[in-house]
Amino acid sequence: MKSENIFDLLVIGAGPGGYVCAIRAAQLGLKVGIIEKNKRLGGTCLNVGCIPSKALLHSTEVYHQIKVDAQTHGVECEKVSLDLATMMNRKDKVVSQLGKGVQSLVSKKGVKIYEGTAELLDNRKVQVSNGSEIFELEAKEIVLATGSKPIELPNLPFDGKKIISSDQAIALDKIPERLVVVGAGAIGLELGCVWSRLGSEVTILEFLPEICSQLDPEIAKATRKIFEKQGITFQLSTKVETAKVTKKEVSLSITKDNQNSNISADCVLVAVGREPFAKGLGIERLNLAKDEKGRVKVNQDFSTNLDGIRAIGDLIHGPMLAHKAEEDGVACAEILAGQAGHVDYSLVPGVIYSDPEVANIGMSESQAKKEGFLTKCGAFPMAGNGRAIATCSTDGVVKLVADAKTDRILGAQIVAHSASELIASVVAHMEYGGSAEDLARTIHAHPTLSESIKEAALSVDGRGLHSL
Ligand code: NAI
Repeated sequence: MKSENIFDLLVIGAGPGGYVCAIRAAQLGLKVGIIEKNKRLGGTCLNVGCIPSKALLHSTEVYHQIKVDAQTHGVECEKVSLDLATMMNRKDKVVSQLGKGVQSLVSKKGVKIYEGTAELLDNRKVQVSNGSEIFELEAKEIVLATGSKPIELPNLPFDGKKIISSDQAIALDKIPERLVVVGAGAIGLELGCVWSRLGSEVTILEFLPEICSQLDPEIAKATRKIFEKQGITFQLSTKVETAKVTKKEVSLSITKDNQNSNISADCVLVAVGREPFAKGLGIERLNLAKDEKGRVKVNQDFSTNLDGIRAIGDLIHGPMLAHKAEEDGVACAEILAGQAGHVDYSLVPGVIYSDPEVANIGMSESQAKKEGFLTKCGAFPMAGNGRAIATCSTDGVVKLVADAKTDRILGAQIVAHSASELIASVVAHMEYGGSAEDLARTIHAHPTLSESIKEAALSVDGRGLHSL
């Protein structure tokens, strides 16, 4: 094989896990190639996930604020109308701009980019086919970073038009009058918010008795009440039995408390989780080991049962989040370069980008108790925060969970405007093993929403200054 086709590292898949792994490995002096079947790098996150959904969440928030909230501020808007095509176009431009950015970053860091579908021939050789040619590459190490895909329910198979996944729900060309969402997780809530703000009648069906199972039940319930106030309907403990698709609509037969009923919609978004995606990689032929959930089994150093093959991101265990995949990528590259890479999955923050946003890190109170901790908690409602009142963002609450013996922060849940930004300071404190007292003694600028975190930390010790 020609030396130009032989690498220290070949990464398969250029999502946040893969391209970050490639960049880090190149920074550390490895000769790196990356293979991606899509024209644009960036994976699910950039193309059909985090980025386009955030673009739409922002656009619809602007629309909603002008339409509903502006008057409160004395801003009179005579006629507010919506051009969905322009909104979608802006989203596509955001994706395209970032795509060009990633492409340029990766290539300027010295990584060789191959467009095509990769298949493992053995532990060192990869075949790449891209429609016009088929060629082979070789590497000392191969990192699999092919991500995940939406889970399909057997009784609700995707047709891309009336029964859709998030891939299509970010690109509808018409506002559905009635949208049913199956699954009240991150995707269901974010995209439910998008279409509800645009005028759809949104009903979210959730299998469990409450939304957001990562949160403490009282916080999850309070969060649901906020969404209900915004006009979203929830049906909890609800199972979808069958779907009947006609030209006009989808009719779902659902069961709740052993009672059957029907619900119809113009389209149904199925958002019940994602599963690892490794189709066409040839891993079955090589007997790559998987766990009971179909994820590639890896050791602490991301190595698989096959010598020279590692896996990262959504393909393996841990939360299916872009920032977790990035950290996997960095740690894996550093290990490959002889350094000590490690990711602590207990410190990966999660965010739902609704308004208010829902952010969490570490353990909830109930999880901490289950783990055997004696806990003490502090909470502060956003309604008591001056900046929140001044900016009409009083919906939400901050809750901190600490170890009653050591005061170490075990977790936090933040439901607030900009919770995605607020959580970062708690993550940093937890990363350094900080205590609730550390957080309570940290000076927070006034007036900011972040003061609610300090107040929650003070409340852990029963000495909140701005709460009763
Ligand atoms: P999820 O796992 O967050 O939520 C799925 C929800 O569907 C759960 O509440 C579950 O109980 C419910 N469910 C499962 N089966 C059901 C059924 N048959 N009928 C009714 N409800 C059912 O999954 P989601 O929202 O699809 O997201 C997939 C992945 O992508 C997650 O790992 C998520 O964290 C990640 N993601 C993260 C985002 C973010 O960080 N903002 C945004 C979007 C996705």
